[in-house]
Amino acid sequence: MLVESPINTSQEKECLMLDMKEAKLVIHGQHPLEGRIRVSGAKNSVLKLMAAALISEEETIIRNVPALTDVSVMAKVLNSLGRQVEITGDQCVIHAGGITQTEAPYTLVSQMRASFNVLGALVGRYRTAKVPLPGGCSIGKRGVDIHIKGLQALGVDIHVEHGIVYAEAPNLKGGHFTLDMPSVGATENLLLASVLASGTTILSNVAQEPEIQDLVGFLNAMGCKIDGAGSSELVIEGVSPSELNAVDYTVMPDRIECASFMACVLSAGGDVLVEQARPRHMTAVLTKFREMGAYVEVVGDSALRVIRKPSQRLKATDVMTNFYPGFPTDLQSPMMALMAQADGVSMMSETIYENRFKHVGELNRMGANIQVKGDVAIVNGVLQLSGASVKSHDLRAGMAMVIAGLGAEGYSSIYNLRHLDRGYECLHEKLLAIGAHIKRVPLSETEAEQLLDTLY
Ligand code: EPU
Repeated sequence: MLVESPINTSQEKECLMLDMKEAKLVIHGQHPLEGRIRVSGAKNSVLKLMAAALISEEETIIRNVPALTDVSVMAKVLNSLGRQVEITGDQCVIHAGGITQTEAPYTLVSQMRASFNVLGALVGRYRTAKVPLPGGCSIGKRGVDIHIKGLQALGVDIHVEHGIVYAEAPNLKGGHFTLDMPSVGATENLLLASVLASGTTILSNVAQEPEIQDLVGFLNAMGCKIDGAGSSELVIEGVSPSELNAVDYTVMPDRIECASFMACVLSAGGDVLVEQARPRHMTAVLTKFREMGAYVEVVGDSALRVIRKPSQRLKATDVMTNFYPGFPTDLQSPMMALMAQADGVSMMSETIYENRFKHVGELNRMGANIQVKGDVAIVNGVLQLSGASVKSHDLRAGMAMVIAGLGAEGYSSIYNLRHLDRGYECLHEKLLAIGAHIKRVPLSETEAEQLLDTLY
């Protein structure tokens, strides 16, 4: 079935049939988790692969695609440009064919920052693009200056007017550009533009995140010529569109979802095997979990066993977020939910975003003792958190609430699930299957009305 709205087909996973906005998660904490849990495909990879498919007019098949609202939004973005997308189970087919326009709609792009990646792909393939400045979680300024400077270095004539980026590139050509900082999104946009530019492009100080490596793997499978994935410099030999072929590619596992599940186990206690993971992408996180006293075993190259006995208390630790291979900012709030219950004082320094501590107030509602000073949160661990009603301010903050709720005494209600639905596939079903006492329940009419003004 061709996708108008990919989450509304009968083949879609049942969990997405639930009302996405008008619901809350109710968790009864302190029930140890046991069993096996499966990691889905990486959100922050699949969205970029879908955007990258625009550089080719051949068929693209992407496997291990998670059922997430963000994937649905990206499918709609491609639809709006004229590409036909079909999602069946965890497979996404972007049918062969050209686009019908090079202007991406504000109503879609404003919902999700990853949709800004169509800019690089459209410029690369069609030499022209009109893309609104992106939206996404409200966790900081989230500029696009590096994307713009980098595209200019490739000969793109680009300017921003009334919130829209206008780009024209009749003479797209290779160049040498050094990013001011290793921005993930800018690295991706520059890659997508340069693979079809004439000549050689060298991109220095690029992001080294595994999702970039996945994008390079995908593009090379399509016929692009990129060297250096995983290092700080990428060398791209431009090819012509006629050299690109159809591609069938499997998305890497989601390292952030994987670590989030591990944090759930560490909060609630228990013994769980996390499957379809890629432990080698998670060194910084595993080191910190172990420092906190967790038992973490790497099982082969695709599973992790995590144990915390209910009688054992986690220990405090200090963390500073950083670019990969440092500790990921996307695990800052989940980690803080653990620090909040650990023995001793932990320090969390956030170096990537300037506004990513909104979860602190909510954790404190649950009995945590956290103070924020600038970009550092000082976390005085308490013996136990207590269940409370809280809301999720962004995707990862929502996960922090779930983790805290699983470890807290009593009931927690987590509101504003639209963020969690953007990035965690079938979250409550997966946690239910390993013994979490968790339920997704519709909001009463009164609750929905009362919350309408405060949540969005
Ligand atoms: N930045 C600039 N100018 C730019 C580009 C970035 O100032 O031109 C700043 C941003 O404002 C931010 C920092 O650089 O403070 C890092 O931004 P980056 O471009 O690296 O991040 P991104 O591409 O916007 C992706 C993920 C984020 C993740 C970051 C860092 C996607 C869709 N998003 O964002 O994921 O936090 O990399 O690893 O891939 C999430 O999944 O919850 C999430 C926010």
